[in-house]
Amino acid sequence: MEVIVKESYAEVSQAAADEVARVIAEKPSAVLGLATGSTPLGLYAELIRRYEQKELDFSSVTTFNLDEYVGLPAAHPQSYHFFMRQNLFDHINVAPENIHLPAGIPNDCRAFCREYEQKIAASGGIDLQILGIGSDGHIAFNEPGSSLASRTRVKTLARSTIEDNSRFFDRPEQVPEFAITMGVGTILEARKVILLATGEQKAGPIAQAIEGPITSMCSASALQMHEHVLMIVDRAAASQLEQVAYYEWVQQKRSHAPSTA
Ligand code: PGA
Repeated sequence: MEVIVKESYAEVSQAAADEVARVIAEKPSAVLGLATGSTPLGLYAELIRRYEQKELDFSSVTTFNLDEYVGLPAAHPQSYHFFMRQNLFDHINVAPENIHLPAGIPNDCRAFCREYEQKIAASGGIDLQILGIGSDGHIAFNEPGSSLASRTRVKTLARSTIEDNSRFFDRPEQVPEFAITMGVGTILEARKVILLATGEQKAGPIAQAIEGPITSMCSASALQMHEHVLMIVDRAAASQLEQVAYYEWVQQKRSHAPSTA
């Protein structure tokens, strides 16, 4: 796990965009795992800017989103389908047939989840998975207690997640209580993972995820078992890390370190 501490939200977003650009440069038909929430908005704005500057081409890229609320149609302004169109897909040249999100109103949830996993596998697997982290330490909607081997399925949202996400709805009772989410096991199969976190309210979950025990009580801690994870955080989100001086030392020494590739 590499921990990269940046000074600002803008720098976190730039560093994440650099990773996406690197993956697409290496493999123009890359498969990206995408996240919603406030955290990746700066990354998406930067990807759009680079596309407009002709620095990035998404024409062969495939995307899979982490999750979607159950019960919201794709046209609902709080659905993740809507969010992704508004904040990324409508502004870049990703082919509509290459975009995948869990359905908000699937006919048969169990069959849908199985097919979603099959589509990820058929695409060759996710090359780069982008993640945020919830105040309860979740990745995607893998709430505390989620099996670290879990696959795409329906999850009941934690009360804290409903409260966190109620800022996007007129009333807290409008927040859906269920979501279809990739599992922790699904996420761990991505070839590379970047988790972004900014702000003091993420300091606790970030410390647990990076320096705490691996536990389903903080599903982000499962990333400790993944070989290629970048945790890109700002100083506020890093403020409870005990080893922050070491992580920064590693980054300083990075260009001198013997290659392990
Ligand atoms: P946020 O959500 O980016 O809006 O803080 C993160 C998450 O819940 O995973």
